[in-house]
Amino acid sequence: MMDPVNKIINLLFPLLTLYALLVFYPTYQRLKSAVSICRNLFSENVSGRVVVITGAASGIGEALAYEYGKRGAYLALVDIRREPLFHVAALAELYGSPEVMPLVADVSKLEDCERFIRTTVLHFGRLDHLVTNAGVAPLYLFEDIDDLSKASPAMDINFWGSVYCTFYASPYLKKSRGRIVAVASGCGYIASPRLSFYCASKAALIAFYETLRTEFGSEIGVTIVAPGVVDSELSRGKFMTKDGELVVDKELRDVQVSVLPVESAERCAKAIMRSVCRGDRYLLEPGWIGCVILWKVFCSEVTESIARWLLMAGSTLPVTEAPTKKILDVANAFRSFFSLPHY
Ligand SMILES: NC(=O)c1ccc[n+]([C@@H]2O[C@H](COP(=O)([O-])OP(=O)(O)OC[C@H]3O[C@@H](n4cnc5c(N)ncnc54)[C@H](OP(=O)(O)O)[C@@H]3O)[C@@H](O)[C@H]2O)c1
Ligand SMILES: *[C@@H]1O[C@H](CO)[C@@H](O)[C@H](O)[C@H]1NC(C)=O
Repeated sequence: MMDPVNKIINLLFPLLTLYALLVFYPTYQRLKSAVSICRNLFSENVSGRVVVITGAASGIGEALAYEYGKRGAYLALVDIRREPLFHVAALAELYGSPEVMPLVADVSKLEDCERFIRTTVLHFGRLDHLVTNAGVAPLYLFEDIDDLSKASPAMDINFWGSVYCTFYASPYLKKSRGRIVAVASGCGYIASPRLSFYCASKAALIAFYETLRTEFGSEIGVTIVAPGVVDSELSRGKFMTKDGELVVDKELRDVQVSVLPVESAERCAKAIMRSVCRGDRYLLEPGWIGCVILWKVFCSEVTESIARWLLMAGSTLPVTEAPTKKILDVANAFRSFFSLPHY
């Protein structure tokens, strides 16, 4: 019974899709632009709002704390590292936040997440935005793994860490008709060698929050952010090894990031802030990531082969012989010649 129905749908649906694309899509796009202009005009004022940011001790989380601070939001800043976190908290207050509460916690622990959400709500009396940003970048080839259990911290932090705090925060966000800001990554859409667990954790986040959006409707807003390469400790080479340890590996960083344009954390945070206040559903920052995603949708053979060739050099050569490293060397030689700063 199912089979003929599927056959008919297979035949008719592509035709209908093509028709819709040609006839209705331009109107739909115009409508979307009109709505987006309205959103710009009636952008949310976060002054006096209560905001939790995880992974706030450095990078994107830190820059976001300052942006929210400048706009007068109350902040609960969460990170696993005490000293830089307290430093960021003091600065955020200087930038204009009426009150900042630093909370040391490990987002991969359920009880820690329960505690910092409870502490925030007890102290400030409400919760308006939850920014799930804490994350690590596991970087190694799948076949190099000796002990697979050492790979789970990456998933525990990047995926479960976001899920845990969302679980405890959502009743309060519902009450305030608040917003979740999920910091995923361009890697959630585009595969890259050595980043299997990173890409998987980010893709899981995207799918998870897209699903929550269908469950929450207008009760809780969800902004899914996918940054490209942003200047932070992570993009300067702080990776998680196959043994589950955080190390700084400049050499591997040069291979992995190469000449990709690096955006400053401040610029990225400003773009996120604007997008969040507009109530956007997605933010790709920089916007050209959208084009890479289109390339992947329409010719995944090409994007896959390019990624493999550039980063793996056919996997027979040592890491440092990867074309991305060579491109970087050439670019740096060129920059030396013109006395420009190196990548
Ligand atoms: N930088 C990029 O190019 C880029 C691109 C796309 C997406 N992102 C995403 O953006 C987010 C922020 O990254 P970033 O570049 O700003 O990196 P970052 O500078 O390393 O900041 C991340 C912060 O999260 C903290 N953290 C790690 N594990 C934690 C845990 N279990 N509990 C609480 N805090 C924890 C880190 O502390 P430790 O240093 O002690 O681990 C660090 O302070 C991440 O989710 C990342 O995946 C970054
Ligand atoms: C935001 O709200 C605060 C107080 O509620 C007000 O003082 C401030 O001017 C508002 N800012 C903007 C940009 O509307």
